[in-house]
Amino acid sequence: MASGGLILGAGSLGRLWAACLPPGAAAFVSRPGQSPSLYCEYRLQTLQGSSVNVSVPWQSLPAPYTPAALLVATKAMHALPALKGISESLPKSTPIVLFQNGLGSQQAVAEAFPKRPVIAATTTEGANRPQPDVVVHAGRGTTWVGSLNAAGNEALTPVVEFLFNSGLQVEATADITLRLWQKLVINAGINPFTALLDCPNGQILKQPLYLKHIDGVCEELARLMNHEGMLTNASRLRADIEVVARATTHNTSSMRSDVQNGRATEIDFINGYVAHRCEALNLAAPVNRMLTEQVHSITNNH
Ligand SMILES: NC(=O)c1ccc[n+]([C@@H]2O[C@H](COP(=O)([O-])OP(=O)(O)OC[C@H]3O[C@@H](n4cnc5c(N)ncnc54)[C@H](OP(=O)(O)O)[C@@H]3O)[C@@H](O)[C@H]2O)c1
Repeated sequence: MASGGLILGAGSLGRLWAACLPPGAAAFVSRPGQSPSLYCEYRLQTLQGSSVNVSVPWQSLPAPYTPAALLVATKAMHALPALKGISESLPKSTPIVLFQNGLGSQQAVAEAFPKRPVIAATTTEGANRPQPDVVVHAGRGTTWVGSLNAAGNEALTPVVEFLFNSGLQVEATADITLRLWQKLVINAGINPFTALLDCPNGQILKQPLYLKHIDGVCEELARLMNHEGMLTNASRLRADIEVVARATTHNTSSMRSDVQNGRATEIDFINGYVAHRCEALNLAAPVNRMLTEQVHSITNNH
């Protein structure tokens, strides 16, 4: 029997998708060994400012149906461990749809589950959770979806059709890796500076720390992207970063928010990924490495 989809990770983004999908179309996966209440109840603050009550069932695995998809909405460092914890109870045909920012976690999942359909999504939708039972849809965007392996190619159309039910803007892409890189560039150029300077996005642009290091960040990124077959250059990447920093001038980045709230950041999957990949290829990446270490030094997630 085919039925609704499952969402792994009932945080900001998972709750946004669950609230936008039609009632009954999605359930949250309960953690193994945990027996939460039957429903996850919260309020969604919409883009128009209205407040909607949302009630999403918790589902333990195995589910009594074949899920249409498993949307993985954990932070990047939790995606693979969370999936390993439930994979035995998930039908092999169920597509895994990865929503993590950055790079590295998606490849790790695709390598760990080579025969399962693995799909990545990158979204410019924005959601945050000012209180445990409130999710704010903070910004409208586009969600790009593309497969990471052969099994994912076949599953892509049904997954996109499933996500369309949310009413959010969803687009299939044949090159999701390029989209993930484009988002990583923006995150690498904004997030660590906002976290280290404890300021909103737009304010980084005149800060000495940013002005001293942004060209180094972009040169290292451009060198790595060129090596990976994506033709670009540092000045173009810097221009892209600054367009987004200005367009989101008052926004608090997820990394700044994580630091403010004492949570682990995704730095290892953003600047840390760049540094790690460069070092593996004997390409120097001292600026991305330095920013990674500085963000680690103000958090506990070494
Ligand atoms: N929020 C956005 O607007 C947005 C936009 C684009 C991309 N993203 C990306 O989407 C991902 C999720 O972001 P987010 O803002 O939604 O993060 P979040 O609010 O921290 O949500 C992550 C959720 O995953 C849960 N989780 C962790 N391990 C789990 C496990 N083993 N089983 C079940 N649940 C588990 C966490 O539970 P606990 O809290 O109990 O640990 C948390 O509720 C990130 O990679 C982020 O970069 C987010």
